[in-house]
Amino acid sequence: MSQTNTQTPLTAIILAGGQGTRMKSAKPKVLQTLADKPLLAHVLDTCLHNDGLLNIKKTIGVYGFAGEQVTSAMADYAVTWVEQAEQLGTGHAVQVTLDELSTEGKSLILYGDVPLIHAKTLLKLTKANTDGISMLTLTVDNPFGLGRIKRDNNNKVLAIVEEKDATDVERAIQEINSGIYCVDNALLHKYLPLLNNDNAQNEYYLTDIVKMAVADSIDIQTIEPEDDFEIEGVNNRQQLAILERKWQAKLVEDLQIAGVQFADPSRVDIRGKVEVGQDVFIDVNVILKGDCQLGNNVTIEAGCVIDNSQIGDNSHIKPHCVVSESQLAENVIVGPFAHLRPNTCLADNCKVGNFVETKKTTVGKGSKVNHLSYIGDAKIGAEVNIGAGTITCNYDGVNKSLTEIGDNAFVGSNSSLVAPVKIGAMATIGAGSVITKDATEGRLTLTRAKQHTINHWQRPVKK
Ligand code: UD1
Ligand code: CA
Repeated sequence: MSQTNTQTPLTAIILAGGQGTRMKSAKPKVLQTLADKPLLAHVLDTCLHNDGLLNIKKTIGVYGFAGEQVTSAMADYAVTWVEQAEQLGTGHAVQVTLDELSTEGKSLILYGDVPLIHAKTLLKLTKANTDGISMLTLTVDNPFGLGRIKRDNNNKVLAIVEEKDATDVERAIQEINSGIYCVDNALLHKYLPLLNNDNAQNEYYLTDIVKMAVADSIDIQTIEPEDDFEIEGVNNRQQLAILERKWQAKLVEDLQIAGVQFADPSRVDIRGKVEVGQDVFIDVNVILKGDCQLGNNVTIEAGCVIDNSQIGDNSHIKPHCVVSESQLAENVIVGPFAHLRPNTCLADNCKVGNFVETKKTTVGKGSKVNHLSYIGDAKIGAEVNIGAGTITCNYDGVNKSLTEIGDNAFVGSNSSLVAPVKIGAMATIGAGSVITKDATEGRLTLTRAKQHTINHWQRPVKK
């Protein structure tokens, strides 16, 4: 990518120490989830998986409350963890990273409870100046509680003043500090040891480095985020829910721009990444989780949950289906009320209908499993018809076994196929059979007691 920042090595410092008392949770705040993912994982993904947009060489996480829970939940990410045993303020939190922090390059300072910062915005921040401090600020209607940006007559930044330390005049300032900065590492090494807690909250304020830099005639740059929600933090369940809605609105808008039609953009949830073809239609109350790919002309009707699955062109998922870790080819019809469990592969023109459960099963082209079946650990050929109520008995209490069904076979309704077992191509299974041995191709096989009628039998009569 042409705009990749390669000039200076970047470090990301993520403050993740807060308990989040107002969440009323056993989990630390940064592990609460937004779009199915821990808040902190959103920030780590932005730092570590950004398609090369940000050249972050080292990510330092600062933990405090429930450190073991935080670090083990994030074990998949390459993070250097540092403990802040006592929460003495944001300045102190960054100070404890100094042993791990290079004296060269710059650092992005981020928060585990401010999950939705964009990599693009951070890139702008890193490019704002070369050797000082750049910070994300925003002018808001209600700045209450936040640090204010104090500027001189030439609009140059002078300092950040916290709400609790501010004069009335300073409180009237509407430009607020997001808390997100890009700072030259040499300045962090120089200023952080000099911080004091001589303020209204007796905290070591990170924000004080701004006035120290100004005193050293260092120019401070400010940048605004593209979306306001990028700098929003989470302190309670209400804020978390509001931020979730804003994020969902953004994800849905991106998909609309990509050409997806939503019956109601406010009644769908995206909890992962979705790739789409043209003319996809998504009805209300659909949840898309993990990595999903939807081809051209895919329709997903109301109430479906699609999880880490690929759905091919012109396929149609009828209402209230759950599709997990499955691959559907083209012109496939599923549902209503079908449950495709992991490793279901449906070839072109397949139909899986009402109240059918599948698992670890491949179904060949044009085959149909239309009603009330359980099909697990099975290989089904092309143009097969599986009658209503057919069950693959794949489990003997210990082992899972395979059922193989050849092309053009016809399995009569309410049959039990006791695996391991093979049904030959073109074979027909009589309805109600319990098939325990392989069924010969092209033949009719059935296991059924002969039907007979008792002529002199009489129904009991009530007295
Ligand atoms: C801070 C900023 C303020 C800014 C606001 C934006 C300071 C002094 N003030 O205020 O200018 O407008 O953020 O939300 O920086 N944390 C630690 N260890 C600590 C203290 C804090 O890890 O010792 C973490 C918290 O868990 C939180 C973040 O740092 O994630 C911000 O701390 P918080 O106390 O919420 O800062 P504010 O007082 O809101
Ligand atoms: Ca505080």
